[in-house]
Amino acid sequence: MRSHMRKIDKDALSAINFLMVSLFVISTSVRAEPNFISCDVIPANYTQNSPFGNNLKRLLESLWSNTPLSQGFNSTVFGNNTDQVYGQALCRGDVTPEVCLDCVQNASQEIMTVCPTQNAIIWHEFCQVRYSYRPFYSWDGYTRMYPDSNKDEKNISDSVGFVVALKDFMNKLSDQAAFNPSNLMFATGKTKISTNEMIYGLVQCTKDISRRDCRVCLNSEFGDLDGCCEYRQGGTVLSRNCNMKFQLYPFYNEPTVNGKKIEFKIATLSMLLLVAILEENKKTILFV
Ligand SMILES: *[C@@H]1O[C@H](CO)[C@@H](O)[C@H](O)[C@H]1NC(C)=O
Ligand SMILES: *[C@@H]1O[C@H](CO)[C@@H](O)[C@H](O)[C@H]1NC(C)=O
Ligand SMILES: *[C@@H]1O[C@H](CO)[C@@H](O)[C@H](O)[C@H]1NC(C)=O
Ligand SMILES: *[C@@H]1O[C@H](CO)[C@@H](O)[C@H](O)[C@H]1NC(C)=O
Ligand SMILES: *[C@@H]1O[C@H](CO)[C@@H](O)[C@H](O)[C@H]1NC(C)=O
Repeated sequence: MRSHMRKIDKDALSAINFLMVSLFVISTSVRAEPNFISCDVIPANYTQNSPFGNNLKRLLESLWSNTPLSQGFNSTVFGNNTDQVYGQALCRGDVTPEVCLDCVQNASQEIMTVCPTQNAIIWHEFCQVRYSYRPFYSWDGYTRMYPDSNKDEKNISDSVGFVVALKDFMNKLSDQAAFNPSNLMFATGKTKISTNEMIYGLVQCTKDISRRDCRVCLNSEFGDLDGCCEYRQGGTVLSRNCNMKFQLYPFYNEPTVNGKKIEFKIATLSMLLLVAILEENKKTILFV
């Protein structure tokens, strides 16, 4: 009974969040959370005011202004001959252009501060940014990274049912992201694993690889979920061309009104709650 109540509360809360997003166009959970940074030591470091350093600055500025305008993915190159810098940025498919801009900007500033190298990649919660002295090959080889946050995830209690359900679910999500033409190499979803528990998942690929390579990349990450997280209540696997994450609570923004139907009951319930909240606080002004 208690857990049933908890579920309704959760649904109502996420529906309220959802309405807030539609009404105020504010993203739900904006938190600065650097996930992982990798500075490749080969070749030598660049120097601050070298042509490479200047091109890198211009490149990152270009990425943070263009990525939000181009459906959350942009890649470009600056410079010529030996001072060329190639770059790429990807925002998580469920964030607004504002959050995308903010994230790419933060990540770019951090990568400039932390990495003195000519080849680096950084993942934040809502985006990843990458640059290199050489072009990115459409398939640069798979490298997995586990953010430290995985270690903070609690163990699950019923491992057998959970692992089977998790694998089945992440497999289906990966198929959706890679092969459903209406998904831009991105998919989120949830599935019930017991009477009162859901798994929430997210998978995404960079848009410079083929759909087939996307599926291969996600398949490798799927295998690596074993290594870090299959007995945990949440986990993230990162790699250059694809990312995968699951949690036992909602962590992504639901698609917009046109994108998905909301359950009538939940919508009504949260409308009532919203009205109640507004009644409570009559000074609240709606900006629609
Ligand atoms: C970007 O950095 C600022 C300042 O540190 C922070 O307030 C903001 O939440 C960050 N945004 C994201 C999306 O990480
Ligand atoms: C590159 O910079 C890092 C950090 O300043 C330093 O530890 C490393 O030795 C440098 N590498 C080379 C090849 O100079
Ligand atoms: C990057 O942004 C520029 C400027 O908006 C655009 O012309 C270009 O097509 C974008 N590139 C990609 C790969 O989306
Ligand atoms: C090389 O790039 C610099 C600045 O990016 C530019 O001023 C210069 O004209 C370029 N040289 C050639 C040969 O394109
Ligand atoms: C969590 O599960 C792993 C694998 O079964 C086990 O090695 C570890 O000790 C468990 N940790 C806790 C805190 O129960």
